[in-house]
Amino acid sequence: MFRTHTCGELSLKSIEQTVTLSGWVQRSRDLGGMTFIDLRDRYGITQLVFNMDQNVALCGEARKLGREYVIQARGVVKERSNKNPKIPTGDIEIFVEELRVLNKSEVPPFTIEDVSDGGDELRMKYRYLDLRRAPLRRNLELRHRMAQEVRNYMDSQKFIEIETPVLMKSTPEGARDFVVPSRMNPGQFYALPQSPQQLKQLLMVAGYDRYFQIVKCFRDEDLRADRQPEFTQIDCEMAFVDREDILQIFEGMTRHLFKSIKGIEFKEPFTRMSFQEAMSSYGVDKPDLRFGMKIKEITGAVKGKGFQVFDSAEYVGAICAAGCSEYSRKELDALTDFVKKPQIGAKGLVYAKYGQDGSLKSSVDKFFTSEDLKNWFSTMEGAQGDLILILAGDRKKTLSALGELRLEMGNRLGLRKDDVFKPLWVIDFPLLEWDEETKRWYAMHHPFTSPMDEDVAYFESDPGRVRAKAYDLVINGTEMGGGSIRIFNKERQQLMFKVLGFSAEEAEMKFGFLMNAFRFGAPPHGGIAFGFDRLTALFAGESSIRDVIAFPKNNMGRDMMMDSPSEISEEQFKELSIRVELKK
Ligand code: AMO
Repeated sequence: MFRTHTCGELSLKSIEQTVTLSGWVQRSRDLGGMTFIDLRDRYGITQLVFNMDQNVALCGEARKLGREYVIQARGVVKERSNKNPKIPTGDIEIFVEELRVLNKSEVPPFTIEDVSDGGDELRMKYRYLDLRRAPLRRNLELRHRMAQEVRNYMDSQKFIEIETPVLMKSTPEGARDFVVPSRMNPGQFYALPQSPQQLKQLLMVAGYDRYFQIVKCFRDEDLRADRQPEFTQIDCEMAFVDREDILQIFEGMTRHLFKSIKGIEFKEPFTRMSFQEAMSSYGVDKPDLRFGMKIKEITGAVKGKGFQVFDSAEYVGAICAAGCSEYSRKELDALTDFVKKPQIGAKGLVYAKYGQDGSLKSSVDKFFTSEDLKNWFSTMEGAQGDLILILAGDRKKTLSALGELRLEMGNRLGLRKDDVFKPLWVIDFPLLEWDEETKRWYAMHHPFTSPMDEDVAYFESDPGRVRAKAYDLVINGTEMGGGSIRIFNKERQQLMFKVLGFSAEEAEMKFGFLMNAFRFGAPPHGGIAFGFDRLTALFAGESSIRDVIAFPKNNMGRDMMMDSPSEISEEQFKELSIRVELKK
Protein backbone atom coordinates (compact mmCIF):
# COMPACT_ATOMS: atom_id res chain seq x y z
CA MET A 1 0.00 0.00 0.00
CA PHE A 2 1.49 3.32 -1.03
CA ARG A 3 -0.50 5.40 1.41
CA THR A 4 -3.03 5.21 4.21
CA HIS A 5 -3.94 8.90 3.96
CA THR A 6 -3.49 11.84 1.62
CA CYS A 7 -1.36 14.87 2.44
CA GLY A 8 -4.47 17.00 3.02
CA GLU A 9 -6.47 15.06 5.57
CA LEU A 10 -4.61 14.47 8.84
CA SER A 11 -5.53 16.54 11.91
CA LEU A 12 -5.41 16.38 15.72
CA LYS A 13 -7.99 13.57 15.51
CA SER A 14 -5.27 11.24 14.26
CA ILE A 15 -2.68 11.92 16.99
CA GLU A 16 -0.42 8.91 17.75
CA GLN A 17 -1.68 6.97 14.72
CA THR A 18 0.90 5.40 12.47
CA VAL A 19 0.30 6.51 8.89
CA THR A 20 1.88 6.19 5.46
CA LEU A 21 1.93 9.09 3.02
CA SER A 22 3.20 9.39 -0.55
CA GLY A 23 3.88 12.54 -2.50
CA TRP A 24 6.37 15.10 -3.77
CA VAL A 25 8.98 16.99 -1.78
CA GLN A 26 7.80 20.59 -1.84
CA ARG A 27 10.68 21.95 0.24
CA SER A 28 13.03 20.83 2.95
CA ARG A 29 14.57 22.71 5.87
CA ASP A 30 17.59 21.43 7.67
CA LEU A 31 17.88 22.81 11.19
CA GLY A 32 20.87 20.80 12.38
CA GLY A 33 19.26 18.33 14.76
CA MET A 34 16.00 18.24 12.83
CA THR A 35 15.08 18.08 9.17
CA PHE A 36 11.61 19.17 8.05
CA ILE A 37 10.09 18.17 4.71
CA ASP A 38 6.86 19.54 3.28
CA LEU A 39 5.25 16.63 1.47
CA ARG A 40 2.73 17.58 -1.24
CA ASP A 41 0.06 15.74 -3.17
CA ARG A 42 -3.15 16.83 -4.89
CA TYR A 43 -4.92 17.19 -1.56
CA GLY A 44 -2.50 19.34 0.43
CA ILE A 45 0.78 19.53 2.28
CA THR A 46 1.87 17.66 5.39
CA GLN A 47 5.02 18.34 7.40
CA LEU A 48 7.40 15.42 7.91
CA VAL A 49 9.95 15.53 10.72
CA PHE A 50 13.26 13.66 10.88
CA ASN A 51 15.03 13.77 14.23
CA MET A 52 18.82 13.32 14.41
CA ASP A 53 18.60 12.16 18.01
CA GLN A 54 16.30 9.30 17.11
CA ASN A 55 17.66 8.04 13.80
CA VAL A 56 20.88 9.46 12.39
CA ALA A 57 20.83 7.35 9.23
CA LEU A 58 17.23 8.25 8.37
CA CYS A 59 17.95 11.90 8.97
CA GLY A 60 20.92 11.65 6.63
CA GLU A 61 18.69 10.17 3.93
CA ALA A 62 16.14 12.92 4.39
CA ARG A 63 18.83 15.55 3.92
CA LYS A 64 19.61 14.12 0.49
CA LEU A 65 16.05 14.53 -0.80
CA GLY A 66 15.76 17.10 -3.56
CA ARG A 67 12.79 19.21 -4.60
CA GLU A 68 10.09 17.20 -6.40
CA TYR A 69 11.49 13.80 -5.39
CA VAL A 70 8.64 11.32 -5.08
CA ILE A 71 8.78 9.64 -1.67
CA GLN A 72 6.85 7.43 0.67
CA ALA A 73 7.07 8.02 4.42
CA ARG A 74 5.72 5.99 7.35
CA GLY A 75 5.53 7.56 10.78
CA VAL A 76 3.49 8.70 13.77
CA VAL A 77 1.16 11.71 13.80
CA LYS A 78 2.18 14.23 16.50
CA GLU A 79 0.75 17.55 17.62
CA ARG A 80 2.88 20.44 16.41
CA SER A 81 4.26 22.84 18.98
CA ASN A 82 4.62 25.51 16.31
CA LYS A 83 1.22 25.33 14.55
CA ASN A 84 0.59 26.70 11.06
CA PRO A 85 -2.98 28.07 10.90
CA LYS A 86 -2.64 28.72 7.15
CA ILE A 87 -2.98 25.06 6.08
CA PRO A 88 -5.60 22.47 7.10
CA THR A 89 -2.91 20.05 8.33
CA GLY A 90 -1.06 22.80 10.22
CA ASP A 91 -1.82 21.37 13.69
CA ILE A 92 0.11 18.14 13.13
CA GLU A 93 3.34 16.70 11.77
CA ILE A 94 4.60 13.18 11.11
CA PHE A 95 7.59 11.82 13.01
CA VAL A 96 9.02 9.63 10.25
CA GLU A 97 10.26 6.12 11.02
CA GLU A 98 10.64 4.79 7.49
CA LEU A 99 11.44 6.55 4.24
CA ARG A 100 11.44 5.24 0.67
CA VAL A 101 12.46 7.22 -2.40
CA LEU A 102 10.01 6.17 -5.12
CA ASN A 103 11.62 8.34 -7.75
CA LYS A 104 14.20 11.09 -8.04
CA SER A 105 13.61 14.38 -9.83
CA GLU A 106 15.87 16.74 -11.66
CA VAL A 107 15.77 20.27 -10.28
CA PRO A 108 12.58 21.70 -11.81
CA PRO A 109 13.09 24.66 -14.19
CA PHE A 110 10.93 26.92 -12.00
CA THR A 111 9.61 26.92 -8.45
CA ILE A 112 6.46 24.91 -7.83
CA GLU A 113 4.93 27.56 -5.60
CA ASP A 114 1.67 29.53 -5.71
CA VAL A 115 3.62 32.41 -7.23
CA SER A 116 6.29 30.80 -9.41
CA ASP A 117 9.50 32.36 -10.67
CA GLY A 118 8.95 30.78 -14.12
CA GLY A 119 7.95 32.91 -17.11
CA ASP A 120 4.89 32.09 -19.24
CA GLU A 121 6.76 30.29 -22.02
CA LEU A 122 8.76 28.12 -19.64
CA ARG A 123 5.69 27.15 -17.64
CA MET A 124 3.83 26.27 -20.84
CA LYS A 125 6.73 24.09 -21.97
CA TYR A 126 6.67 22.20 -18.67
CA ARG A 127 2.93 22.41 -18.24
CA TYR A 128 2.82 19.16 -16.19
CA LEU A 129 5.01 20.89 -13.60
CA ASP A 130 2.96 24.07 -13.76
CA LEU A 131 -0.14 21.96 -13.13
CA ARG A 132 1.40 20.81 -9.83
CA ARG A 133 0.98 24.37 -8.52
CA ALA A 134 -2.02 24.89 -6.25
CA PRO A 135 -3.67 27.78 -8.16
CA LEU A 136 -3.88 25.72 -11.37
CA ARG A 137 -4.93 22.62 -9.48
CA ARG A 138 -7.75 24.60 -7.84
CA ASN A 139 -8.85 25.90 -11.26
CA LEU A 140 -9.05 22.40 -12.72
CA GLU A 141 -10.95 21.17 -9.68
CA LEU A 142 -13.34 24.10 -10.07
CA ARG A 143 -13.76 23.27 -13.76
CA HIS A 144 -14.62 19.68 -12.85
CA ARG A 145 -17.17 20.76 -10.25
CA MET A 146 -18.76 23.17 -12.70
CA ALA A 147 -19.06 20.46 -15.34
CA GLN A 148 -20.70 18.21 -12.73
CA GLU A 149 -23.18 20.93 -11.78
CA VAL A 150 -23.99 21.67 -15.42
CA ARG A 151 -24.76 17.98 -15.88
CA ASN A 152 -26.85 17.88 -12.70
CA TYR A 153 -28.93 20.84 -13.78
CA MET A 154 -29.38 19.71 -17.37
CA ASP A 155 -30.32 16.22 -16.26
CA SER A 156 -32.86 17.65 -13.80
CA GLN A 157 -34.41 19.54 -16.72
CA LYS A 158 -34.64 16.34 -18.82
CA PHE A 159 -31.83 17.21 -21.24
CA ILE A 160 -29.81 14.32 -22.57
CA GLU A 161 -26.12 14.50 -23.44
CA ILE A 162 -25.46 13.29 -26.96
CA GLU A 163 -22.02 13.22 -28.57
CA THR A 164 -21.56 14.48 -32.11
CA PRO A 165 -18.66 13.81 -34.47
CA VAL A 166 -15.41 15.76 -34.57
CA LEU A 167 -14.60 14.86 -38.16
CA MET A 168 -17.25 16.94 -39.83
CA LYS A 169 -18.10 19.35 -42.56
CA SER A 170 -17.60 23.10 -42.59
CA THR A 171 -19.88 24.87 -40.08
CA PRO A 172 -21.11 28.42 -40.28
CA GLU A 173 -19.92 30.23 -37.15
CA GLY A 174 -17.89 32.57 -39.29
CA ALA A 175 -14.33 31.72 -38.27
CA ARG A 176 -11.86 29.80 -40.43
CA ASP A 177 -12.11 26.00 -40.26
CA PHE A 178 -9.39 23.62 -39.18
CA VAL A 179 -9.33 20.90 -41.81
CA VAL A 180 -8.18 17.29 -41.81
CA PRO A 181 -7.24 15.49 -45.04
CA SER A 182 -8.93 12.20 -45.73
CA ARG A 183 -6.62 9.34 -46.74
CA MET A 184 -9.46 7.25 -48.07
CA ASN A 185 -10.91 10.10 -50.09
CA PRO A 186 -7.90 11.73 -51.74
CA GLY A 187 -8.17 15.49 -52.20
CA GLN A 188 -11.08 15.72 -49.75
CA PHE A 189 -11.08 17.19 -46.27
CA TYR A 190 -13.06 16.99 -43.10
CA ALA A 191 -13.59 20.20 -41.17
CA LEU A 192 -13.42 20.20 -37.39
CA PRO A 193 -16.65 21.62 -35.94
CA GLN A 194 -16.66 25.32 -35.01
CA SER A 195 -19.70 24.13 -33.06
CA PRO A 196 -22.14 21.24 -33.44
CA GLN A 197 -24.74 23.73 -34.72
CA GLN A 198 -26.31 21.77 -37.57
CA LEU A 199 -26.06 18.45 -35.78
CA LYS A 200 -27.97 19.71 -32.78
CA GLN A 201 -30.63 21.03 -35.13
CA LEU A 202 -30.77 17.59 -36.76
CA LEU A 203 -31.24 16.07 -33.31
CA MET A 204 -34.31 18.28 -32.95
CA VAL A 205 -35.61 17.00 -36.30
CA ALA A 206 -34.92 13.52 -34.90
CA GLY A 207 -37.17 14.25 -31.93
CA TYR A 208 -34.64 14.53 -29.05
CA ASP A 209 -36.27 17.70 -27.83
CA ARG A 210 -33.73 18.59 -25.11
CA TYR A 211 -30.08 18.05 -26.07
CA PHE A 212 -26.88 19.22 -24.47
CA GLN A 213 -23.21 18.38 -24.75
CA ILE A 214 -20.03 19.62 -23.11
CA VAL A 215 -18.07 19.65 -26.31
CA LYS A 216 -14.81 20.72 -27.94
CA CYS A 217 -15.12 23.28 -30.73
CA PHE A 218 -12.38 24.42 -33.11
CA ARG A 219 -11.93 27.83 -34.68
CA ASP A 220 -8.93 29.08 -36.59
CA GLU A 221 -9.07 32.72 -35.52
CA ASP A 222 -6.73 35.25 -33.96
CA LEU A 223 -6.24 34.45 -30.32
CA ARG A 224 -6.85 36.66 -27.28
CA ALA A 225 -7.10 36.15 -23.55
CA ASP A 226 -10.63 34.78 -23.94
CA ARG A 227 -10.08 32.82 -27.15
CA GLN A 228 -8.38 29.51 -27.82
CA PRO A 229 -8.30 27.64 -31.15
CA GLU A 230 -9.91 24.68 -29.40
CA PHE A 231 -12.29 25.50 -26.62
CA THR A 232 -15.24 23.94 -24.85
CA GLN A 233 -18.90 24.80 -25.15
CA ILE A 234 -21.90 23.82 -23.12
CA ASP A 235 -23.94 23.33 -26.25
CA CYS A 236 -27.74 23.10 -25.97
CA GLU A 237 -30.81 22.86 -28.15
CA MET A 238 -34.53 22.54 -27.43
CA ALA A 239 -37.62 21.90 -29.53
CA PHE A 240 -41.11 23.39 -29.11
CA VAL A 241 -39.79 26.51 -27.43
CA ASP A 242 -39.74 30.21 -28.02
CA ARG A 243 -37.17 32.73 -26.89
CA GLU A 244 -38.66 33.16 -23.45
CA ASP A 245 -38.42 29.42 -22.69
CA ILE A 246 -34.73 29.39 -23.59
CA LEU A 247 -33.94 32.49 -21.56
CA GLN A 248 -35.71 31.01 -18.53
CA ILE A 249 -34.02 27.60 -18.70
CA PHE A 250 -30.53 29.02 -19.17
CA GLU A 251 -30.94 31.81 -16.68
CA GLY A 252 -31.81 28.86 -14.43
CA MET A 253 -28.59 27.06 -15.34
CA THR A 254 -26.52 30.17 -14.69
CA ARG A 255 -28.22 30.72 -11.33
CA HIS A 256 -27.68 27.07 -10.42
CA LEU A 257 -23.95 27.39 -11.12
CA PHE A 258 -23.58 30.60 -9.14
CA LYS A 259 -25.50 29.14 -6.22
CA SER A 260 -23.95 25.69 -6.09
CA ILE A 261 -20.38 26.75 -6.81
CA LYS A 262 -20.06 30.24 -5.40
CA GLY A 263 -22.97 30.43 -2.98
CA ILE A 264 -24.29 33.52 -4.78
CA GLU A 265 -28.00 34.03 -5.30
CA PHE A 266 -29.29 36.72 -7.63
CA LYS A 267 -32.42 38.31 -6.19
CA GLU A 268 -33.66 40.03 -9.35
CA PRO A 269 -34.32 38.52 -12.76
CA PHE A 270 -31.32 39.05 -15.07
CA THR A 271 -31.36 42.47 -16.73
CA ARG A 272 -32.36 42.46 -20.40
CA MET A 273 -31.15 45.04 -22.86
CA SER A 274 -31.64 45.47 -26.58
CA PHE A 275 -28.60 45.42 -28.84
CA GLN A 276 -29.43 49.03 -29.82
CA GLU A 277 -29.37 50.21 -26.23
CA ALA A 278 -26.16 48.32 -25.49
CA MET A 279 -24.46 49.96 -28.46
CA SER A 280 -25.70 53.50 -27.80
CA SER A 281 -25.21 53.50 -24.01
CA TYR A 282 -22.11 51.30 -23.68
CA GLY A 283 -20.53 51.27 -27.15
CA VAL A 284 -20.40 47.45 -27.20
CA ASP A 285 -22.76 44.51 -27.52
CA LYS A 286 -21.43 43.13 -24.22
CA PRO A 287 -21.75 45.87 -21.61
CA ASP A 288 -20.03 45.55 -18.26
CA LEU A 289 -22.81 46.53 -15.85
CA ARG A 290 -20.65 46.53 -12.74
CA PHE A 291 -20.58 50.29 -13.10
CA GLY A 292 -22.64 53.08 -14.70
CA MET A 293 -20.84 55.82 -16.58
CA LYS A 294 -23.21 55.44 -19.54
CA ILE A 295 -22.38 57.01 -22.87
CA LYS A 296 -24.65 59.90 -23.88
CA GLU A 297 -25.00 61.57 -27.23
CA ILE A 298 -24.45 65.35 -27.11
CA THR A 299 -24.21 66.03 -30.85
CA GLY A 300 -27.07 68.54 -30.84
CA ALA A 301 -25.77 70.44 -27.82
CA VAL A 302 -22.23 71.04 -29.11
CA LYS A 303 -22.63 71.88 -32.77
CA GLY A 304 -22.56 75.39 -34.28
CA LYS A 305 -20.04 77.04 -31.95
CA GLY A 306 -17.22 77.11 -34.47
CA PHE A 307 -15.31 74.09 -33.20
CA GLN A 308 -14.58 72.28 -36.44
CA VAL A 309 -14.08 68.82 -34.88
CA PHE A 310 -17.59 68.83 -33.42
CA ASP A 311 -19.21 70.72 -36.30
CA SER A 312 -18.05 68.23 -38.89
CA ALA A 313 -18.74 65.10 -36.82
CA GLU A 314 -21.62 62.73 -37.50
CA TYR A 315 -21.74 61.98 -33.79
CA VAL A 316 -20.44 63.51 -30.56
CA GLY A 317 -20.72 61.48 -27.38
CA ALA A 318 -19.44 61.62 -23.83
CA ILE A 319 -19.03 59.83 -20.55
CA CYS A 320 -18.98 61.44 -17.13
CA ALA A 321 -16.44 60.18 -14.60
CA ALA A 322 -17.58 61.05 -11.09
CA GLY A 323 -14.97 62.52 -8.77
CA CYS A 324 -12.31 62.97 -11.45
CA SER A 325 -12.32 66.77 -11.86
CA GLU A 326 -8.87 66.96 -10.31
CA TYR A 327 -7.31 64.79 -13.03
CA SER A 328 -3.87 66.21 -13.85
CA ARG A 329 -2.55 67.18 -17.25
CA LYS A 330 -0.50 63.97 -17.19
CA GLU A 331 -3.52 61.76 -16.51
CA LEU A 332 -5.52 63.46 -19.25
CA ASP A 333 -2.62 63.06 -21.66
CA ALA A 334 -2.47 59.37 -20.82
CA LEU A 335 -6.20 59.06 -21.59
CA THR A 336 -5.68 60.92 -24.87
CA ASP A 337 -2.89 58.51 -25.80
CA PHE A 338 -5.18 55.64 -24.87
CA VAL A 339 -8.00 56.69 -27.22
CA LYS A 340 -5.52 57.41 -30.01
CA LYS A 341 -4.13 53.86 -30.00
CA PRO A 342 -4.72 52.28 -33.41
CA GLN A 343 -7.04 49.64 -31.99
CA ILE A 344 -9.24 52.35 -30.39
CA GLY A 345 -8.90 54.74 -33.31
CA ALA A 346 -10.08 58.14 -31.95
CA LYS A 347 -8.34 61.25 -33.27
CA GLY A 348 -8.30 63.11 -29.97
CA LEU A 349 -10.03 63.62 -26.64
CA VAL A 350 -11.92 66.67 -25.40
CA TYR A 351 -12.54 67.09 -21.69
CA ALA A 352 -14.49 69.36 -19.38
CA LYS A 353 -13.93 69.64 -15.61
CA TYR A 354 -16.43 70.82 -13.01
CA GLY A 355 -14.16 71.64 -10.07
CA GLN A 356 -15.10 71.06 -6.43
CA ASP A 357 -15.06 74.87 -6.12
CA GLY A 358 -17.64 75.24 -8.91
CA SER A 359 -15.13 76.30 -11.57
CA LEU A 360 -15.69 75.09 -15.13
CA LYS A 361 -12.78 74.37 -17.45
CA SER A 362 -12.37 72.52 -20.72
CA SER A 363 -9.83 71.76 -23.40
CA VAL A 364 -12.01 73.74 -25.83
CA ASP A 365 -12.52 76.92 -23.77
CA LYS A 366 -11.92 78.99 -26.93
CA PHE A 367 -15.22 77.82 -28.39
CA PHE A 368 -17.47 77.17 -25.44
CA THR A 369 -18.61 79.43 -22.58
CA SER A 370 -18.99 78.38 -18.95
CA GLU A 371 -22.72 78.39 -19.63
CA ASP A 372 -22.19 75.82 -22.43
CA LEU A 373 -20.10 73.65 -20.15
CA LYS A 374 -22.73 73.84 -17.44
CA ASN A 375 -25.26 72.59 -19.96
CA TRP A 376 -23.02 69.67 -20.84
CA PHE A 377 -22.78 68.71 -17.20
CA SER A 378 -26.52 68.89 -16.79
CA THR A 379 -27.07 66.73 -19.92
CA MET A 380 -24.53 64.24 -18.57
CA GLU A 381 -26.07 64.39 -15.09
CA GLY A 382 -22.64 65.37 -13.80
CA ALA A 383 -21.96 67.44 -10.71
CA GLN A 384 -19.17 69.42 -9.07
CA GLY A 385 -16.08 67.26 -8.84
CA ASP A 386 -16.80 65.40 -12.10
CA LEU A 387 -14.98 65.09 -15.40
CA ILE A 388 -16.60 64.77 -18.83
CA LEU A 389 -14.68 62.99 -21.60
CA ILE A 390 -15.86 63.62 -25.15
CA LEU A 391 -15.14 61.94 -28.48
CA ALA A 392 -16.41 62.93 -31.91
CA GLY A 393 -16.47 61.41 -35.38
CA ASP A 394 -18.22 58.66 -37.28
CA ARG A 395 -21.07 57.29 -35.14
CA LYS A 396 -20.12 53.62 -35.07
CA LYS A 397 -16.40 54.07 -34.49
CA THR A 398 -16.85 56.84 -31.93
CA LEU A 399 -19.32 54.80 -29.90
CA SER A 400 -16.92 51.90 -29.90
CA ALA A 401 -14.03 54.14 -28.80
CA LEU A 402 -16.21 55.61 -26.04
CA GLY A 403 -17.01 52.06 -24.96
CA GLU A 404 -13.29 51.32 -24.62
CA LEU A 405 -12.67 54.59 -22.80
CA ARG A 406 -15.49 53.77 -20.40
CA LEU A 407 -13.88 50.39 -19.58
CA GLU A 408 -10.49 52.05 -19.16
CA MET A 409 -11.98 54.54 -16.70
CA GLY A 410 -13.73 51.66 -14.94
CA ASN A 411 -10.32 49.96 -14.54
CA ARG A 412 -8.59 53.14 -13.37
CA LEU A 413 -11.29 53.83 -10.79
CA GLY A 414 -11.39 50.22 -9.55
CA LEU A 415 -15.04 49.84 -10.54
CA ARG A 416 -14.63 46.42 -12.19
CA LYS A 417 -14.43 44.27 -9.09
CA ASP A 418 -13.70 40.54 -9.38
CA ASP A 419 -16.23 39.54 -6.75
CA VAL A 420 -19.21 41.42 -8.24
CA PHE A 421 -21.21 39.63 -10.94
CA LYS A 422 -23.65 41.39 -13.26
CA PRO A 423 -25.38 39.03 -15.68
CA LEU A 424 -27.21 40.54 -18.62
CA TRP A 425 -29.23 39.22 -21.54
CA VAL A 426 -28.58 41.20 -24.70
CA ILE A 427 -31.52 40.66 -27.05
CA ASP A 428 -32.96 41.93 -30.34
CA PHE A 429 -29.73 41.71 -32.33
CA PRO A 430 -29.90 42.68 -35.99
CA LEU A 431 -30.20 39.57 -38.16
CA LEU A 432 -27.71 40.81 -40.73
CA GLU A 433 -24.55 42.86 -40.86
CA TRP A 434 -23.37 44.75 -43.95
CA ASP A 435 -19.73 44.34 -44.88
CA GLU A 436 -18.34 47.30 -46.81
CA GLU A 437 -15.33 45.41 -48.10
CA THR A 438 -17.15 42.52 -49.74
CA LYS A 439 -20.34 44.55 -50.25
CA ARG A 440 -22.64 41.89 -48.94
CA TRP A 441 -24.77 40.95 -45.98
CA TYR A 442 -23.53 38.51 -43.39
CA ALA A 443 -25.54 36.70 -40.73
CA MET A 444 -24.65 38.39 -37.46
CA HIS A 445 -25.12 35.14 -35.54
CA HIS A 446 -25.35 32.36 -38.12
CA PRO A 447 -27.54 31.71 -41.16
CA PHE A 448 -30.03 29.53 -39.25
CA THR A 449 -31.13 32.31 -36.92
CA SER A 450 -34.79 33.19 -37.22
CA PRO A 451 -35.86 36.76 -37.95
CA MET A 452 -38.46 38.42 -35.71
CA ASP A 453 -41.87 37.65 -37.20
CA GLU A 454 -42.81 41.34 -37.31
CA ASP A 455 -39.65 42.19 -39.27
CA VAL A 456 -39.92 39.51 -41.96
CA ALA A 457 -41.62 42.02 -44.28
CA TYR A 458 -38.32 43.94 -44.63
CA PHE A 459 -36.30 40.87 -45.45
CA GLU A 460 -35.69 41.81 -49.06
CA SER A 461 -36.52 45.55 -49.08
CA ASP A 462 -34.48 46.67 -46.04
CA PRO A 463 -32.44 43.73 -44.68
CA GLY A 464 -30.54 45.90 -42.15
CA ARG A 465 -33.79 46.59 -40.33
CA VAL A 466 -34.63 42.95 -39.63
CA ARG A 467 -34.04 41.93 -36.03
CA ALA A 468 -33.17 38.38 -35.02
CA LYS A 469 -34.56 36.08 -32.38
CA ALA A 470 -31.03 35.95 -30.98
CA TYR A 471 -29.64 36.50 -27.51
CA ASP A 472 -26.33 36.62 -25.70
CA LEU A 473 -25.64 36.11 -22.03
CA VAL A 474 -23.06 38.68 -20.96
CA ILE A 475 -21.45 38.72 -17.52
CA ASN A 476 -19.13 41.55 -16.45
CA GLY A 477 -18.43 42.61 -20.02
CA THR A 478 -17.67 39.14 -21.44
CA GLU A 479 -19.92 37.20 -23.79
CA MET A 480 -20.49 33.96 -21.90
CA GLY A 481 -23.00 32.46 -24.29
CA GLY A 482 -25.09 33.09 -27.35
CA GLY A 483 -27.88 31.46 -29.28
CA SER A 484 -31.09 31.91 -31.17
CA ILE A 485 -34.44 30.56 -32.21
CA ARG A 486 -33.85 28.87 -35.55
CA ILE A 487 -35.50 29.02 -38.90
CA PHE A 488 -37.26 25.66 -39.22
CA ASN A 489 -38.93 26.02 -42.52
CA LYS A 490 -37.24 25.25 -45.80
CA GLU A 491 -38.61 28.22 -47.77
CA ARG A 492 -37.56 30.76 -45.19
CA GLN A 493 -34.14 29.19 -44.89
CA GLN A 494 -33.73 29.41 -48.66
CA LEU A 495 -34.75 33.09 -48.55
CA MET A 496 -32.11 33.68 -45.89
CA PHE A 497 -29.43 32.03 -48.02
CA LYS A 498 -30.51 34.22 -50.93
CA VAL A 499 -30.15 37.43 -48.90
CA LEU A 500 -26.73 36.21 -47.74
CA GLY A 501 -25.72 35.81 -51.37
CA PHE A 502 -25.33 32.01 -51.37
CA SER A 503 -26.20 30.51 -54.73
CA ALA A 504 -28.61 27.57 -54.64
CA GLU A 505 -25.67 25.23 -55.40
CA GLU A 506 -23.49 26.72 -52.67
CA ALA A 507 -26.27 26.41 -50.11
CA GLU A 508 -26.89 22.85 -51.24
CA MET A 509 -23.21 21.95 -50.98
CA LYS A 510 -22.69 23.51 -47.56
CA PHE A 511 -25.98 22.91 -45.81
CA GLY A 512 -27.86 20.49 -48.06
CA PHE A 513 -28.14 17.84 -45.36
CA LEU A 514 -29.93 20.27 -43.06
CA MET A 515 -32.21 21.53 -45.83
CA ASN A 516 -33.09 17.97 -46.72
CA ALA A 517 -33.92 17.17 -43.12
CA PHE A 518 -36.25 20.18 -43.00
CA ARG A 519 -38.39 18.41 -45.61
CA PHE A 520 -39.32 15.78 -43.06
CA GLY A 521 -41.12 17.64 -40.31
CA ALA A 522 -38.70 19.88 -38.42
CA PRO A 523 -40.18 21.12 -35.14
CA PRO A 524 -39.83 24.75 -34.03
CA HIS A 525 -36.54 24.86 -32.14
CA GLY A 526 -33.79 27.03 -30.72
CA GLY A 527 -30.74 26.85 -28.52
CA ILE A 528 -27.71 28.40 -27.01
CA ALA A 529 -24.05 27.63 -26.37
CA PHE A 530 -21.98 28.81 -23.44
CA GLY A 531 -18.23 29.25 -23.51
CA PHE A 532 -17.32 26.82 -20.73
CA ASP A 533 -13.73 28.04 -20.48
CA ARG A 534 -14.91 31.63 -20.14
CA LEU A 535 -17.48 30.72 -17.52
CA THR A 536 -14.86 28.83 -15.52
CA ALA A 537 -12.34 31.67 -15.81
CA LEU A 538 -14.99 34.08 -14.53
CA PHE A 539 -15.73 31.84 -11.55
CA ALA A 540 -12.01 31.36 -10.89
CA GLY A 541 -11.32 35.10 -11.08
CA GLU A 542 -8.78 34.54 -13.87
CA SER A 543 -8.36 37.02 -16.70
CA SER A 544 -7.23 34.41 -19.25
CA ILE A 545 -9.02 31.17 -20.16
CA ARG A 546 -5.59 29.52 -20.45
CA ASP A 547 -5.52 29.32 -16.67
CA VAL A 548 -8.55 27.04 -16.58
CA ILE A 549 -7.44 24.73 -19.42
CA ALA A 550 -5.09 21.85 -18.62
CA PHE A 551 -3.09 22.01 -21.83
CA PRO A 552 -3.73 25.32 -23.61
CA LYS A 553 -2.09 26.76 -26.72
CA ASN A 554 -0.08 29.97 -26.84
CA ASN A 555 -0.95 33.09 -28.83
CA MET A 556 0.48 31.55 -32.00
CA GLY A 557 -1.77 28.53 -31.58
CA ARG A 558 1.22 26.41 -30.56
CA ASP A 559 1.35 23.74 -27.90
CA MET A 560 4.74 24.55 -26.41
CA MET A 561 4.94 21.31 -24.50
CA MET A 562 4.30 18.91 -27.38
CA ASP A 563 5.82 21.33 -29.89
CA SER A 564 2.76 21.14 -32.08
CA PRO A 565 1.87 21.86 -34.85
CA SER A 566 4.83 20.12 -36.41
CA GLU A 567 5.87 18.76 -39.77
CA ILE A 568 4.73 15.33 -40.87
CA SER A 569 6.71 12.73 -42.78
CA GLU A 570 7.01 12.34 -46.56
CA GLU A 571 5.32 8.98 -46.07
CA GLN A 572 2.27 10.58 -44.45
CA PHE A 573 1.95 13.12 -47.27
CA LYS A 574 2.12 10.29 -49.78
CA GLU A 575 -0.60 8.34 -48.01
CA LEU A 576 -2.78 11.43 -48.05
CA SER A 577 -2.04 12.11 -51.73
CA ILE A 578 -0.88 15.58 -50.77
CA ARG A 579 2.11 17.60 -51.90
CA VAL A 580 2.96 20.73 -49.93
CA GLU A 581 4.32 23.83 -51.54
CA LEU A 582 4.63 26.67 -49.04
CA LYS A 583 3.84 30.14 -50.38
CA LYS A 584 6.86 32.41 -50.23
P1 AMO B 1 -21.02 31.37 -30.58
O1 AMO B 1 -20.17 31.43 -31.79
O2 AMO B 1 -21.57 32.65 -30.03
O3 AMO B 1 -22.30 30.49 -30.86
O4 AMO B 1 -20.22 30.60 -29.44
C1 AMO B 1 -20.82 30.36 -28.18
C2 AMO B 1 -19.88 30.76 -27.06
O5 AMO B 1 -18.64 30.09 -27.16
C3 AMO B 1 -17.61 30.92 -26.62
N1 AMO B 1 -16.52 31.04 -27.62
C4 AMO B 1 -15.21 30.85 -27.36
N2 AMO B 1 -14.56 30.57 -26.23
C5 AMO B 1 -13.21 30.42 -26.28
N3 AMO B 1 -12.49 30.53 -27.40
C6 AMO B 1 -13.09 30.80 -28.59
N4 AMO B 1 -12.35 30.88 -29.71
C7 AMO B 1 -14.52 30.99 -28.60
N5 AMO B 1 -15.43 31.27 -29.55
C8 AMO B 1 -16.63 31.29 -28.94
C9 AMO B 1 -18.22 32.24 -26.28
C10 AMO B 1 -19.51 32.24 -27.08
O6 AMO B 1 -20.51 33.00 -26.46
N6 AMO B 1 -23.60 27.48 -32.49
C11 AMO B 1 -23.70 28.77 -31.83
C12 AMO B 1 -24.58 28.69 -30.60
C13 AMO B 1 -26.06 28.59 -30.89
O7 AMO B 1 -26.59 29.32 -31.73
O8 AMO B 1 -26.71 27.77 -30.22
C14 AMO B 1 -22.31 29.23 -31.41
O9 AMO B 1 -21.33 28.53 -31.49
O10 AMO B 1 -18.48 32.30 -24.88
